[in-house]
Amino acid sequence: MNTLILSSSLSKNSRSFLVCKNVEKELINQGVHCTLIDIRDIRIQPCHLGKTKDMESLTKTIDNTDNIIIGMGVHCYSINDGLKILLDNCFSGATNKFFGILCAAGGERSYLSTMHLTQICMNEWRMIQLPRIIYVTGKDFTKDVITSDEVLERIKVFCKEFNIIGNKLIA
Ligand SMILES: Cc1cc2nc3c(=O)[nH]c(=O)nc-3n(C[C@H](O)[C@H](O)[C@H](O)COP(=O)(O)O)c2cc1C
Repeated sequence: MNTLILSSSLSKNSRSFLVCKNVEKELINQGVHCTLIDIRDIRIQPCHLGKTKDMESLTKTIDNTDNIIIGMGVHCYSINDGLKILLDNCFSGATNKFFGILCAAGGERSYLSTMHLTQICMNEWRMIQLPRIIYVTGKDFTKDVITSDEVLERIKVFCKEFNIIGNKLIA
């Protein structure tokens, strides 16, 4: 199984990126082939200016992957601008694919913000979501290390389920 992990935060000290790294490590341990793309490393521009080379390349990667895990930071109870541009311009090849969400937020009560990403993936691209989300806030970290046992356990369960269901859904 080939899994793309798309880390969509543009923050310098992104916590959702750290969750993406943990999930990548766990999935690799389970024998999954992972490609982690950190969108801080790619050039993005709005669609009226056309796709950049990086966006073309991401489109191809999405076309070729079996499934996708998206890391997001909550911005105003929603997704950030960079992720919206990529969803609208690079995700046609994600149609019908399985996906999962990893989310970092500033507060404990923003967990429903991931529903905006669910709506876009399901309504725009008919994607199928793993019904389990990893949701973290600052209290789950000590500096840049996840120290919450609960989150670490949820990451293990998320990866196990993503691997099992992801494999079943490969045509
Ligand atoms: C513009 C902006 C809007 C934000 N809006 C929310 C919000 O609505 N709810 C919340 O819990 N946190 C909010 N935050 C805090 C971020 O979700 C938090 O910093 C999180 O760690 C971001 O993910 P990241 O570290 O991967 O970038 C906001 C941060 C920024 C910069």
